[in-house]
Amino acid sequence: MRSRVGRAPDVAAAERDAALRCKLLFVTSEIADFLKVGGLGEVSAGLPRALRRVADARVLLPGYRAVLAANPDMRIVAKLPAVAEIPACEIGEIDTPDGLTMYIVVADGLFDRPGNAYLDEHASPWDDNDVRFARLAMAAVELARGVPALGWQPEVLHLNDWPGALAAGYLDWQKVETPSILTIHNLAYQGLYGRDRLSRLGIPAEAFAMDGVEFHGKISFLKAGIYYASQITTVSATYAKEITTPEFGCGLDGLLRLRSGEGRLTGILNGIDESWNPSADPHLAHPFDSVNWRGKAANAQHLREAFGLAVSRGPLFAVVSRLVHQKGLDLTMAAIESIVRDGGQLVVTGEGEPEVENALRATAARHPQSIAVKIGYEEPTARRIFAGSDFLLMPSRFEPCGLSQMYAQRFGSLPIAHNTGGLGDTIEDGATGFLFSGATPETFAQAIHRAKSVFDRKDQFAAMRRRAMLRPSGWGEAARSYMDVYRRAIGPGLRVAA
Ligand code: ADP
Ligand code: GLC
Repeated sequence: MRSRVGRAPDVAAAERDAALRCKLLFVTSEIADFLKVGGLGEVSAGLPRALRRVADARVLLPGYRAVLAANPDMRIVAKLPAVAEIPACEIGEIDTPDGLTMYIVVADGLFDRPGNAYLDEHASPWDDNDVRFARLAMAAVELARGVPALGWQPEVLHLNDWPGALAAGYLDWQKVETPSILTIHNLAYQGLYGRDRLSRLGIPAEAFAMDGVEFHGKISFLKAGIYYASQITTVSATYAKEITTPEFGCGLDGLLRLRSGEGRLTGILNGIDESWNPSADPHLAHPFDSVNWRGKAANAQHLREAFGLAVSRGPLFAVVSRLVHQKGLDLTMAAIESIVRDGGQLVVTGEGEPEVENALRATAARHPQSIAVKIGYEEPTARRIFAGSDFLLMPSRFEPCGLSQMYAQRFGSLPIAHNTGGLGDTIEDGATGFLFSGATPETFAQAIHRAKSVFDRKDQFAAMRRRAMLRPSGWGEAARSYMDVYRRAIGPGLRVAA
């Protein structure tokens, strides 16, 4: 940022500068500023902000109850008409205190509901999620076509996961020439709906084909994105390769292989934001950094007390995770007895599948001195767990990128993780964490055992912690790589501010 101390702001220069910036609209169904379900919410808060250094990046987001509640004075700047059975909506505008512009899709009855972005208060998907996210996607396309009242028209749409993906199809069907990028954060969630919904979603009948939105007899939002987007990215280089194989491709590997062969599939590793800094985190009991360690022990003591665990000199393991099949919690359950036998303790937080939640609660009840489980998710608690623990368990079956292992590293907690997707791209085995190949209870137990022996050699343990804490994981490099992808989508005309 330029400093202009003592001078009036040079408005003309600022305008020239703005005109040089590529206008891009980041379309997302979650943002950590207001509501998040997982890592997509974090990425949506971090990446557009990093992109703003070189581009005019703005966000398009549904007007969920939490968004409306946090912005009672939101200005309504445009109205968009109904299309097929997708109801009309208004576009609100919010400028965050740090200057990020968000456009909010306000549609009566679609988003202002209890529950989270995708599920009702009983954790069932809303049965009109197709219309809800088609509304989001259609709004993005209308902005791309140009809404004069907005005074801003994106030159590229950056779509995220299945809730945004249908926009790539609408662009094609409506002959709007704006290019689109689809980022796949998780191929396992595809947005599949019955063929009978084609007309209510405004999808032309001829697009219901293998070369289009059709996937095994259903409409697939995600496939529409993969098929029609100008460029596809995913959130690590390894996952970009994995999803072109039958094992990880969720049935879409053939199309993804094709796109990869065309040079249209790129892996770009996520970053994490600067608030993940243990020397300045207001939630921690004691600050610390890679040189001054004393605070780490104080945080461990605080964590044990807060979770009712016994005083101990043994290793403290942690799980901070959505409690779903992807995250391999059955492997963690299988490891618990031996962790306890070896003098270790475990703190778990997260929420998800009720069976997993109940199994964890029952195990904690059997070992009240050694295992503590807090069902639910509060970020300050998560931060205190990263700060107080020695190791983070992440035996994910697959992991497109994974953010928790990076948070843990910054906070001096070494991840013990399955070597898959972004876990392998962010953890150097024996240097900044521990990796194991082949997700079985045996391979996981061996990795935990290796970690325990490093824990017992204090110098080696301290050296690994230090390396993990110093591992660069900001957003800068990712933002540069995304600009390269936008350039491929838009062509050489892409403008970038100096
Ligand atoms: P994923 O997105 O697959 O859950 P990541 O590791 O990329 O995995 O991101 C997890 C993010 O979600 C982190 O910011 C973590 O702190 C947060 N998180 C974990 N569990 C929950 C939860 N139950 N509710 C909300 N956020 C959660
Ligand atoms: C998804 C993936 C996770 C990734 C996150 C953000 O939720 O499961 O691995 O880190 O998206 O891209």
